[in-house]
Amino acid sequence: MPGPNTQILTSNKSPLTLSGDTLVVTIKKGDALKGDLLSKLNTLSKGGLAVLKSNGSLTGALGELVWLPVQNSHYKRVAIAGAGECKPSNYTEIKARDFFGNLSRKLRAANAGEVVMTIDPIVSALKSASLGSQAAAEGLILGQYRFDTHHTKKADKPKFTLGNITIATGTKAPASQLAKGATRGSIIGEAINTSRDLANTPANLMTPTIVAERAREIADQADIKIEILERSDAERLGMGSYLSVTNGSHQPPKFIVMTYKNGGPRKPIALVGKGITFDTGGTSLKPPGGMESMKYDMSGAATVISAIGAIARLKLKTHVVAIAPCTENMPGGGATKPGDVVYAMDGQSIEVINTDAEGRLVLADGIAYAKKVKNAGVILDVATLTGAMSVSLGDYRIGVFCNQDNLFRQLDSVAQSTGELIWRMPIDDYYNKQIKSEVADLANTGGRLAGSITAAKFIEAFVGDNPWAHFDIAGLMSAKSDSGIHIKGSSGVPTKSLIEYVAAKSAS
Ligand code: BES
Ligand code: MN
Ligand code: ZN
Repeated sequence: MPGPNTQILTSNKSPLTLSGDTLVVTIKKGDALKGDLLSKLNTLSKGGLAVLKSNGSLTGALGELVWLPVQNSHYKRVAIAGAGECKPSNYTEIKARDFFGNLSRKLRAANAGEVVMTIDPIVSALKSASLGSQAAAEGLILGQYRFDTHHTKKADKPKFTLGNITIATGTKAPASQLAKGATRGSIIGEAINTSRDLANTPANLMTPTIVAERAREIADQADIKIEILERSDAERLGMGSYLSVTNGSHQPPKFIVMTYKNGGPRKPIALVGKGITFDTGGTSLKPPGGMESMKYDMSGAATVISAIGAIARLKLKTHVVAIAPCTENMPGGGATKPGDVVYAMDGQSIEVINTDAEGRLVLADGIAYAKKVKNAGVILDVATLTGAMSVSLGDYRIGVFCNQDNLFRQLDSVAQSTGELIWRMPIDDYYNKQIKSEVADLANTGGRLAGSITAAKFIEAFVGDNPWAHFDIAGLMSAKSDSGIHIKGSSGVPTKSLIEYVAAKSAS
């Protein structure tokens, strides 16, 4: 199972009546001796807290973690965690999640064990007990994520594992709201970590067959129907575009379809994720430098599979289908050759100019299937589609191509709360001339100029009139270092935004 084993629990009891290895009291800047709990801790530490405050060791500054010498309490150790200014006017869930992400790693490094934690300044700053505990749960779960399955030496793993964390206030925050937020945050945090695990796992251990097995486990644990289309099914359906990418590989392709229906609209929201478990480029072979990062080329599939898992666990009143066309893109005797013409499921013909532009080929049939077989309404696709995307927007904002202003506005408002920031890219029809082919309806590449846009225009040709947004996550598929909720390796982005978008559209 993904990520840490830590569970986030809640309690309506006062922290001093509970017990555990470590009590963590969160304070904001300047709060060092305020309130009932801190005065009691000052007494239990025989005035130690006041000393730490007066000598400047305890200020409440963001990131500060001060251990108190406390005797006769229900805890082996007590720590005060500084959350910084926490002004409601400019505090955000994003700041809160990063705070808890960093805190979780500090507590793990300090071998904090079973933790009881107060989060009052965060609840006040976000003006919501449920949002506060949700941010805490997500931050604590995401921050502890690590992918160390394949290290066999102890020295390469963190020394300690953190136990369960109980969020307690004993103050004004209603316990039911705290519990609701912690459950929601745990489900979302775990889904993002699942997505990270799927993408971090090396391609020899995350073949299309294994992705399909994982998807089946997720479906079986929730109220999700799953269909795995085999090569023969894809052939019967006429998915010549998707199949053209599978030709060079010895791994059987798997076209994964997961359906969740709990009321909701007749036409499902379709989440379509690029599932290239490894992208060598195929006949148009990539240069070797950095090619190992192409294990992340199924990140789109990973996000839609884990997002629908969370949507089902949250029991949202909605109708969603997640579609992940999975295959390797390999060179091989049978591999597609530049100039080959293939036919997508909707009948459109494609000249494959470059076999390394394979993502759009699998998405074409993913989207055609969503429309024709699943009668999709809104279509959101997620793909590590173009290197050009990281040239345009770097590793901060996801490029989003969208054919409906209203849909983009909704996605942007979701993104601003999830922190998975997006930026709208153009899709003028002007660019279509670059993907015209001499011999087929479409060419799968559009030359050097505006590479991310011509890729989006190609996909749009299969979307037609459906409301649609395309997330090109090439720039954000992996993080370079640990910071806040971000952990080196697969980012899991934009799993949370997919969940929150669907949640916002669900009946309550
Ligand atoms: N998976 C790659 C895009 C990619 C590259 C994602 C680097 C993340 C990091 C995609 O399949 C690809 O190879 N795209 C080509 C398209 C080109 C041949 C038109 C690219 O970006 O070079
Ligand atoms: Mn490629
Ligand atoms: Zn690719």
